[in-house]
Amino acid sequence: MKSVASAPAKIILFGEHFIVYGGKAILCAIDKRITVESEMTKTNNIEIESGLGKLVIPKSDSYKNADSVFRPLVYIAQKMLEKFHSKAGMRIRVSSEFPSGVGLGSSSACCVAAAGSISSLFENHTKEEILKIAIDAERTIFENTSGADCTACTYGGILEYSKDGQIKKLEIVPKLELVVANSGIIHSTSKVVSMVKHFKDGKPEIFSSLCILEVNLIEDALDALQKNDLVKLGKLMIQNQEFLEKIGVSNDILNSMISLVKDASYGAKLTGAGDGGCIIALADKSNLKKTLNALAKKYECFSAKIDTNGLEQSSA
Ligand code: MEV
Repeated sequence: MKSVASAPAKIILFGEHFIVYGGKAILCAIDKRITVESEMTKTNNIEIESGLGKLVIPKSDSYKNADSVFRPLVYIAQKMLEKFHSKAGMRIRVSSEFPSGVGLGSSSACCVAAAGSISSLFENHTKEEILKIAIDAERTIFENTSGADCTACTYGGILEYSKDGQIKKLEIVPKLELVVANSGIIHSTSKVVSMVKHFKDGKPEIFSSLCILEVNLIEDALDALQKNDLVKLGKLMIQNQEFLEKIGVSNDILNSMISLVKDASYGAKLTGAGDGGCIIALADKSNLKKTLNALAKKYECFSAKIDTNGLEQSSA
């Protein structure tokens, strides 16, 4: 039996980096997916094939020996084989509709889809259980993850996420359009998170006052989302971008992408870890084309729809 699961990409509307130190973030799952297909084999190996390469590793080897691209998948396979005392090997195939390393949550979506696919080879698991496996797996490559990205990829929709694990899916269907544009600069989330820690340790007062400002900004953003007030939301995105620039995670290219859509959109900011990756711009039907046109000459960009389903599972 093959078990198939898929999970959506995510964008962070507000709160990246600050969420690592508490408070809240607002995330949104979007309509680009990673699919993971898994099956048990009669070998003693874990075999993985994805757009990023191939790996064959004896299932008795430590997951720590696997390249970081594959490590979370080896971890999940080993955990499940051990938990269910299975003598089987495993074959895992990953396919993705969006690029990795650009702030769209490819590693989290992959962990969630893999946890969903592999766990249901053995028995049914709830979304909460799958999320836990996915976050544990992501911690094998990114110890300090806030868990926000995996949570968005698991539940879908627009989420209010607190670092203490509280999750609130916002029951709203905002009339907004989001444009995602890729700088083409690959980043490492864990490295950028370490850069921010360095900033926080060096300038604790500045960092903690920015954290307080971010908490207030997110309350205003939640209110603006409920009221579908795009003008306000756009202004808050611009303000959030300023905080991200202050902690050093933006760069000249991201700043210039944001200024390209300054007049066309309601507002724009980087999304995810920054220091490369993607920006998002807020629009509606009236200015979507203009916003896309402002970016399309120089950057790969697309308008993203909100994915409301999150993790999806099936068997073949
Ligand atoms: C990365 O998409 C989001 C960060 O806030 C890290 C995290 O929340 O784990 C930068």
